[in-house]
Amino acid sequence: MGDPAVVKIFDTTLRDGEQSPGATMTTEEKLLVAEQLVRLNVDIIEAGFPAASPGDLAAVKAIAQRVYGVAVAGLARANINDIDAAWEAVREAEQPVIHVFLATSDIHLKHKLGLSQEDALERVKAMVTYARNLCATIEFSAEDATRSDWDYLCRVFEIAIQAGATTVNIPDTVGYTLPHEYEALFCYLRQRVPGIEHVTMSAHCHNDLGLATANTLAAIKAGARQVEVTINGLGERAGNTAVEEVVMALRTRPDCFGGVDTRIQSNEFLAASQLVSRLTSIPVQPNKAVVGANAFAHEAGIHQDGMLKNPLTYEIMTPQSVGWADTRLVLGKHSGRHGLDARLRQLGHKLNAEQLRVAYRRFVELADHKKHVTDADLIYIAQDGMGTPAAI
Ligand code: KIV
Ligand code: ZN
Repeated sequence: MGDPAVVKIFDTTLRDGEQSPGATMTTEEKLLVAEQLVRLNVDIIEAGFPAASPGDLAAVKAIAQRVYGVAVAGLARANINDIDAAWEAVREAEQPVIHVFLATSDIHLKHKLGLSQEDALERVKAMVTYARNLCATIEFSAEDATRSDWDYLCRVFEIAIQAGATTVNIPDTVGYTLPHEYEALFCYLRQRVPGIEHVTMSAHCHNDLGLATANTLAAIKAGARQVEVTINGLGERAGNTAVEEVVMALRTRPDCFGGVDTRIQSNEFLAASQLVSRLTSIPVQPNKAVVGANAFAHEAGIHQDGMLKNPLTYEIMTPQSVGWADTRLVLGKHSGRHGLDARLRQLGHKLNAEQLRVAYRRFVELADHKKHVTDADLIYIAQDGMGTPAAI
């Protein structure tokens, strides 16, 4: 089951993330991402869905053959062809994982699969057994778990564990659940599924209601020791849980999680974010937590003043801890005199009180008309706008 104080990071950027419209990557690009995930020190890379296409199988195989120091998983529906393809793709990995899934909600069973609950139980038993005869590490996912009947889910997981699953995943496939519900579901399963204490419970959330990170954290509180996440929250529809958000929440608020942590090298987050964004051509929104361009930028005068006195006033983690060089004080119409003075000093211009008063007035006039006041504007204001040269 692993160390109870460690939450394993199962990164699915290359599988669920790549299912995001327009996010397709070539094998070489996937290898670059996989190498960055190793630098980030994730525990498991879900490298793709080998049965989906020969290209996907080849990409997963290349990662399994060439990337070390991490487990490599391949996704499979609960049928023999998919499981064989997944095994063919991951078998040469240092630590291969087959990830088998079957839907368990009434909506999916009836409308998508045309299976009864009893037939689905038989399928889980047969396919997890089949996969386990190939590979020592098997994850079983009950797709659409959060819209499934809880007592039925207990039976599904009991059978999966008896058949040899080493991890059971409880996905919020459609981003429907709320944090208190997801936490309660994990507690319910922990209390009622025989043998669940011997396997790892995993959380897998989608962001349709903007709750993926909150739900994932709620699952950790309730005993999840693996979380399925992506870089930048890339993923189907509104995305998956963003790894950088979960890891930094655990590190920033250890008081709320009993000190449970991951093995992640968080100072690799920015590099990972920028790599995935560049390769997929999917930009990161500026206000994205942790890795957005504005995550450590301050324009408001009151905030800049506070930051200059002590960064703890307006930052709950250091920019360096997630890969940024530094905080950015952006000068705009909301900025104050302290911020202007600090930036001018960085640019080599130390003004006396009167010079600063005049420069600030000219700066505010300019900032009212211009969205971005550049360093060149500031130097002009400092040197020329004073009427007299600034004191250096
Ligand atoms: O969202 C989901 O249910 C999935 C499964 C395949 C784990 O991605
Ligand atoms: Zn998913």
